[in-house]
Amino acid sequence: MSAEIIYGSELAKTIRQEMKEEVKTLRQNGIVPKLVVVLIGDDPASKSYVAGKQKAADFIGIESELIALPSQTTQAELLALIDQLNHNEEVNGILVQLPLPDQINEQSVIEAIHPDKDVDGFHPINIGKMLTQQKTFLPCTPYGILTMLKSKNIELKGKHAVIIGRSHIVGKPVGQLLLNEDATVTYCHSKTKDIETFISMADILIVAVGRAHFVKGDHIKPGAVVIDVGVNRIADGSLTGDVLFDEVKEKAAYLTPVPKGVGPMTITMLMKNTIQAAREAAK
Ligand code: GUN
Repeated sequence: MSAEIIYGSELAKTIRQEMKEEVKTLRQNGIVPKLVVVLIGDDPASKSYVAGKQKAADFIGIESELIALPSQTTQAELLALIDQLNHNEEVNGILVQLPLPDQINEQSVIEAIHPDKDVDGFHPINIGKMLTQQKTFLPCTPYGILTMLKSKNIELKGKHAVIIGRSHIVGKPVGQLLLNEDATVTYCHSKTKDIETFISMADILIVAVGRAHFVKGDHIKPGAVVIDVGVNRIADGSLTGDVLFDEVKEKAAYLTPVPKGVGPMTITMLMKNTIQAAREAAK
């Protein structure tokens, strides 16, 4: 058996085209969605993500502004900027690119962003709403993963979803979203004993550990759905996932590639959240 590959890049293209039409109509009604991205310092990975966001926004017709600040920016300066953006009615979404330099407390920044402009879905109020299944901004990577699964009509109800990794950005929230879809969810992490046993029990396996080729083919339950969230740069300079693609492809029913998998969907869902924020603000 050879897995069907789920190309997030293709699905992202379709959804972005739909959003472009949607924004055209919104603009005709005087609603201009606007996203502000704040980038502190000059980490090359962060710069490249931010560039991808700008490009997607331009294509869709979302106004986007990049505020690039030096790495020695203080927490007080950043909080003052966020306060100003919170009060600016033209701004619908605020995204502060993580990670932040050591002198700035990440949680204080996340909590400073007004929940109605928190298009990352990281504010505790929005996390609480996600847990209790109220309408909110879903965190972009988990939302993208769910959209990929739904695009293939993959049944989630009653399935055993195993999440490898418990980060606040991916692991924890993707488990919650799958639980909300009636999956049975197991979280594994760096302290989990005998992790291969859990991997081999997964109907749906989400891997977000940041270790190249962590999951091998012989661990996979035949017919599993495998979502690879890892982006690792290896010795030859290329990007690769947390899953050993060529091996897992022979066991799984569905598999996402790296690149062209989850990454483009994360950015797409950020745009979706920004449009949602603009619609809500116009009500
Ligand atoms: N850094 C890596 N992923 C993300 C994300 O989804 N949002 C923000 N703000 N920073 C990130």
